Amino acid sequence: MKRILTGIKPTGTPHIGNYFGAIKQAIELSKNEDYEALYFIADYHALNTVKNPELFKKYTHEIAATWLACGLDPEKVMFYKQSDIPEVFELNWILNNITPKGVLNRAHAYKACVEDNKNKNLDPDSGVNMGLYCYPVLMAADILLMQSNLVPVGLDQKQHLEITKEIARYFNNTFGNFFVSSEEYIPESVGTIIGLDGRKMSKSYGNTITLFGDEKMLRSQINKIVTNSQTPEEPKDTDCAIFKIFSLFATPKQIEEMKEKFSKGIGWGEVKKQTFEVANSLLAPMREVYNYYISHPEEIDKILENGAKKARQIAAQTIGEVRKLIGKE
Ligand code: ADP
Ligand code: TRP
Repeated sequence: MKRILTGIKPTGTPHIGNYFGAIKQAIELSKNEDYEALYFIADYHALNTVKNPELFKKYTHEIAATWLACGLDPEKVMFYKQSDIPEVFELNWILNNITPKGVLNRAHAYKACVEDNKNKNLDPDSGVNMGLYCYPVLMAADILLMQSNLVPVGLDQKQHLEITKEIARYFNNTFGNFFVSSEEYIPESVGTIIGLDGRKMSKSYGNTITLFGDEKMLRSQINKIVTNSQTPEEPKDTDCAIFKIFSLFATPKQIEEMKEKFSKGIGWGEVKKQTFEVANSLLAPMREVYNYYISHPEEIDKILENGAKKARQIAAQTIGEVRKLIGKE
């Protein structure tokens, strides 16, 4: 059976970009009987940005509750926290010793940081810690430890998957053919989800619609979607943030009707009202599950512990083989 694995960093409260861009597809894939699925919370990756212990815990519970509210079935999916799998960190160290520094010099996130420093006339490595620099190796350890065949990710993670494959090749060439090739799976239908201001929706731009905020928050965030000063009577272009966000939630029929209204003229206030309605009717039942888990964090912890127990069986097998291959045992 093919093994499918993905992880999300708990670095902030989940938004609709995370849902439509990643979580929804991953949940659908996990229902496919041809795959054994491992989905995890990449909490030690998040440590690079989240240095507040309260927030670290909060975001971890929020992302776990989000997966569960979006339909992850913990009986079917091994659902765990990265930090509960000590074998990840042992493999991480072993992989560090076969990963050329040059490969990591080329990683986008590190390079962007260096460029930014140079533009500001700072030391190129200012603010760069080893967690950022070695981020791709830890990710390779997550993936290779579970001998994952398929890794569903957003386009922004493509380079990390390439680095993973490169590291696996170095290992196989050094110690013998062992790691399987892990292929990225980037669903083509999923474009970039647009935020309130028309740019990519991202925590770092502060332009998000919180996935499971209460109704009041959802309404107020939708009301902040940037529109223009056209009057209600004027025909409008559908190539705009509000139409795109409406379309995420609406049925094909509702989208056609909205297109028609755009061509005839409709007030932005009315479009926002209808966007709230379609969004809320999709999110409300999921929000209830989310709120249940948020108020029962001990249940989340139990689910993640059980998931880690199952995942560690795979981890123990892989690390046992790796120890033999490197000559430790
Ligand atoms: P953020 O940019 O808000 O920090 P993350 O980097 O934590 O989001 O993303 C978590 C997952 O959600 C990734 O798989 C990423 O590809 C996906 N994702 C995040 N924002 C978007 C977006 N605007 N459109 C599509 N997918 C997204
Ligand atoms: N780097 C990924 C992100 O930022 C999160 C992640 C960590 C991951 N380890 C992984 C994704 C392994 C897929 C597989 O979104």
